[in-house]
Amino acid sequence: MAEPSFTPGPLDRSDRVYIAGHRGLVGSAVKRKFEAEGFTDLVSRTSAELDLKDRAAVFDFFAQERPKHVVLAAAKVGGILANNTYPHDFLSENLQIQVNVMDAAVEHGVERLVFLGSSCIYPKLAEQPIHEDALLTGHLEPTNDAYAIAKIAGILQVQAVRRQHGLPWISAMPTNLYGPGDNFSPTGSHVLPALIRRYDEAVRDGVDRVENWGTGTPRREFLHVDDMAAAVFHLIEHYDGPDQVNVGTGSDVTIREIAETIAKVVGFEGETVWDTSKPDGTPQKLLDVSKLAEAGWTAQIGLEDGLRSTIDWFHENADSIRQ
Ligand SMILES: NC(=O)c1ccc[n+]([C@@H]2O[C@H](COP(=O)([O-])OP(=O)(O)OC[C@H]3O[C@@H](n4cnc5c(N)ncnc54)[C@H](OP(=O)(O)O)[C@@H]3O)[C@@H](O)[C@H]2O)c1
Repeated sequence: MAEPSFTPGPLDRSDRVYIAGHRGLVGSAVKRKFEAEGFTDLVSRTSAELDLKDRAAVFDFFAQERPKHVVLAAAKVGGILANNTYPHDFLSENLQIQVNVMDAAVEHGVERLVFLGSSCIYPKLAEQPIHEDALLTGHLEPTNDAYAIAKIAGILQVQAVRRQHGLPWISAMPTNLYGPGDNFSPTGSHVLPALIRRYDEAVRDGVDRVENWGTGTPRREFLHVDDMAAAVFHLIEHYDGPDQVNVGTGSDVTIREIAETIAKVVGFEGETVWDTSKPDGTPQKLLDVSKLAEAGWTAQIGLEDGLRSTIDWFHENADSIRQ
């Protein structure tokens, strides 16, 4: 069958859209975005209501609800420690979630589906900034290779559906995300929410010294999750193609700069010490976002503004987060 043809343009606001993973960091932002854009028929289920690993239940759900479009933001997600400790769970659960949702979506002829992956799909030693063409050109980072392979399989499934069934589905690969709804747990969080929590608690407890791991020199790219949702929305209306699209800001900052900005925003005036005996991780991770720019979208939310709204959210939800 020929490649699908899709006419770019606004979707009908009355189309039924299924947002899988609507309570997660990404899914909740995507839901807010669709609501803000005037969509009136959004459907979603928690994992307790619909376990996407349950194939029969997923097919029943699609038969009942018949969504016209799907944003697949449900996944088993975790930090390095969890990925490294439970590689089989990350591989198996993500494959099951993706395959079940995409198979049911094929059966019901879902028109537009956006599959969300992650920048960890690219080889560990990929040239920076990382272009989409770097996919499958080298070895993966071993600590999260199982998760990455599941996500690569998802990209391939989208491409196969396009070729075999002619449905104009797409894949988007976000960089590191942050924002309201992030995971601030002391053990499972990523670097940015971990730093927010550390500096905020130092201010709260009147501590005048904060210690961070490493040298602070590694460079990382951070995208606000509302920008991510805006990018997903732009792509679903305007992009068509088999290759995954990188979603990022196109620029990176050092961990030290991030720490200084967070300290400034939370009002920490003490000393920051860097424990250089601790590992730094990879020196740079930056996505090439030229394909996204060609598709007509660039990030809008600056880092300081994004951090302010995230810290505000953290304060407003501190009681439930800190339990
Ligand atoms: N966060 C980042 O920095 C980042 C960066 C790049 C890419 N991404 C990608 O974005 C996607 C979403 O990530 P996220 O950060 O939003 O994750 P998240 O906050 O952990 O949310 C994941 C959502 O998936 C749902 N889910 C998990 N297992 C499920 C199951 N068996 N059945 C039904 N629903 C299930 C959960 O639903 P319930 O809440 O109902 O349990 C949860 O709301 C992932 O594909 C991830 O790779 C994230």
